Amino acid sequence: MSLHAQHALPPFLTADGADLALDGHNLAGLAREHGTPLFVFSGRRLEHNARSMLAAAKGGHPRARIFFASKACSNLHVIKLFRREGLNIEVNSGGEMWKALSAGYRPDEIVFNGVAKSVPEIEQAVSLGIQAINVDSAFELSRIAEVATRLRTTARVSLRVVPGIGGGATAGIQTGSEKSKFGMGQAELRDALEIARAHPTAIDVAGMHLHIGSQVLDLPDFLDSVSFTARQAQEIAASLGRPLRHLNLGGGYPINYVHRRSGANAGRDFDYTAYSAAEPAADMLEKVAAAASKALDRQAEIFFEPGRAMVADCGLLLSCVENKKQRGPMPWLYLDAGYNLLIDAAAVRWYYHMVNASRMDAAPDGEFRVVGPLCDSADCFFDVEGEYLWADLQAKLNGVAGVTPELLAELKAKVVRLPATRSLPASTRPGDLVALLDTGAYSLEEMFQYCGRQRAKAVMIGTDDALVTLRERDRVEDLVDAAERMAAVG
Ligand SMILES: Cc1ncc(COP(=O)(O)O)c(C=O)c1O
Repeated sequence: MSLHAQHALPPFLTADGADLALDGHNLAGLAREHGTPLFVFSGRRLEHNARSMLAAAKGGHPRARIFFASKACSNLHVIKLFRREGLNIEVNSGGEMWKALSAGYRPDEIVFNGVAKSVPEIEQAVSLGIQAINVDSAFELSRIAEVATRLRTTARVSLRVVPGIGGGATAGIQTGSEKSKFGMGQAELRDALEIARAHPTAIDVAGMHLHIGSQVLDLPDFLDSVSFTARQAQEIAASLGRPLRHLNLGGGYPINYVHRRSGANAGRDFDYTAYSAAEPAADMLEKVAAAASKALDRQAEIFFEPGRAMVADCGLLLSCVENKKQRGPMPWLYLDAGYNLLIDAAAVRWYYHMVNASRMDAAPDGEFRVVGPLCDSADCFFDVEGEYLWADLQAKLNGVAGVTPELLAELKAKVVRLPATRSLPASTRPGDLVALLDTGAYSLEEMFQYCGRQRAKAVMIGTDDALVTLRERDRVEDLVDAAERMAAVG
């Protein structure tokens, strides 16, 4: 059976004998040289994503710009590569702004989002004169006005509005309604406009901004946000007496995390919808940009802020199988990587496809419960909370009139958010290497040292095939900071 028939993998992942290879580099060899857990990124894929997303945005709208949402991966090597490719950058804190400047971004290439910006962060953004502070509340705008007045300058801002559109594959990543913590509803927007009108020298309202969520699967949600922007921008312009110069449509473009071969057993009764994208992010972006070019003021620039779609498929995490147990009928695999390296696996129960990177010649004919090394039961790659809740609900619903098997299946799909088992070769055993795919987004920046675990090393296979170290593995001494070190004995 060929590798691709087994796993439906993208073409840059191939088999090198029994091993998985990325851009032609044998990953077992990299793991031996650099240890595990190890993130491996593809420079070529980063370049490809930057080029295809930029071409798509500009293909749909000639005045489109991409501001890469650096929260998805703010490693300086990665954001430098994106800058070389002509991307701008979105930051979410003074720390990310510092990183963007350190990677060479000019202030006019930076937009700054955030729901709780501090005065020092605002001072930093205002004195640099960045492209736009995306204002999250009327209170924040009054803070910006105060800072700009004190610094005797003008702050360029964009007003973040709540469009009331429910994009985003799961509740934790929906940001477009008043149930979320983001942006201003209509009443608050009126207050903000009043503040702007009262401070004409301190505040320059250059644009409006929205962002409906992450892994937004349905094109109509994006198209609704374009129609919303058309109406809202006109109202803001009328209230200010002049047109807006940019319209920021946010990010949220999805990727396909599901690489199961057809007929795979594990998780057959599991609904993978939230993790599957029907079409490439670039195709979706081009359609949204084209809709924007029809519906929105053609004089205005259009900004997009994709994060996940730019980097997720560019990285994978190599993890060693450290233990195997038989619990009842089910074999369990214990990896050396857990939610300390992939917090979304536990926090929003995110799905990352797994392959045995050291047995690519074997069919994935075994079913495994897969867990991480940390000292709590939530450190697992199945939905321990959902399964528990579902067992309880199912017992309560048993025999209740009107509860059909279809309704039960629908409820289960809502409650249990990860497949119970993973398909890997039945021969998988300690010492094998498991690759968790599409782990390039929301990973490096979210690692932490719980249970005395060092944050992982990350390397990138460069566009010239040379290996670049993106970040070193923490040393064991990095588990304590300077103040704590004072307490060390000896
Ligand atoms: C304001 C804003 N823009 C862009 C993004 C990037 O979203 P994604 O990574 O889904 O493209 C986020 C992520 O939450 C965000 O909050």
